[in-house]
Amino acid sequence: MSIIFSGIQPSGNLTLGNYLGALRNFSKIQDGNECYYCVVNQHAITVPQDPQLLHERTRKLAAIYLASGLDPEKSTLFVQSEVPEHALLGWMMITLSYVGELERMTQYKDKASKRGDSIPAGLLTYPPLMAADILLYQTNFVPVGDDQKQHMEITRNLAQRFNRFYGEVFTIPDIYLGQDGTRVMSLQEPTKKMSKSDDNTTATIYLLDEPKAIEKKIKRAQTDSENSVHYDKENKPGISNLIEIFSALTDQTHEQVEAAYAGKGYGAFKKDVADAIISTLEPIQQRYRQLVGDPELDAILDKGAAKAHAKASVTYEKAAKAMGLYRK
Ligand code: TYM
Repeated sequence: MSIIFSGIQPSGNLTLGNYLGALRNFSKIQDGNECYYCVVNQHAITVPQDPQLLHERTRKLAAIYLASGLDPEKSTLFVQSEVPEHALLGWMMITLSYVGELERMTQYKDKASKRGDSIPAGLLTYPPLMAADILLYQTNFVPVGDDQKQHMEITRNLAQRFNRFYGEVFTIPDIYLGQDGTRVMSLQEPTKKMSKSDDNTTATIYLLDEPKAIEKKIKRAQTDSENSVHYDKENKPGISNLIEIFSALTDQTHEQVEAAYAGKGYGAFKKDVADAIISTLEPIQQRYRQLVGDPELDAILDKGAAKAHAKASVTYEKAAKAMGLYRK
């Protein structure tokens, strides 16, 4: 049995990338493992958020976790800000971090470059908070998309640094990457990752998109003029992205997909890609609509926060004591 931790920010509408890179793996590994899944709302506020919207998205994201197959009897589902040890250990992790290593994070550089002279300090200290999330649970594996590799590396470094300076407190976690879908690309600029925060909504499939919208977006997805369903990430990034999405959804290799569509052209392929996305998302959307207004959702999150707190507080006490943050 392993301990699993992962989190998603309630900072926008979830995308097919979030689903294929992360969410769908969460429920796959919940049997036989001890799993913690978190709505990381304190990470979301590293850039300004509308308070009412953040509140609503927190609840909606919890409903999506459940709708995509998380069983609250098997996995602990909770909201980050309701377990205070995240911020407490987060601060300790900040004190162990070097400004230089934080400035080297590509996600920091991307986000900071859009903020002119007013770069929120929380953007820089985002990774030590993420490290705290993971380390509090003595996590073995973290299911995330490919874009989190650098954050996982710094998490491991901080854990090792702490253990070296203050004694063995933390388990060193490993990244858990799925096969296909670990980096779903934008439908309009397929060399860029599909993102919740893309202003061009035709570039992104949202988990709650209507079937018609999905068909339209896939139909208009950037490809090339060859009309041959062939995987070549460098020269044919658009069609390769669609092949990856389709492979991930239908559990096929790229070669199987290529063989099935040999001589068929992009039109037929795109139709099947859209159908595969729709048939995966429709049942999730139905469950989501039932769950989001259900008071049971609050009961699940209350129970989750209590369970997470029980586990997190043990590690936190150990870490605080090891650092000398105690009186008696
Ligand atoms: P966030 O909210 O940006 O993304 C949530 C998850 O979705 C994955 N993802 C993708 N996977 C494939 N293709 C894409 N285009 C794509 N876009 C996003 C992300 O890799 C992620 O797994 N830093 C995290 C949140 C976090 C966290 C944690 C994760 C905070 N603390 C502790 C794990 C453990 C993030 O930015 O997620």
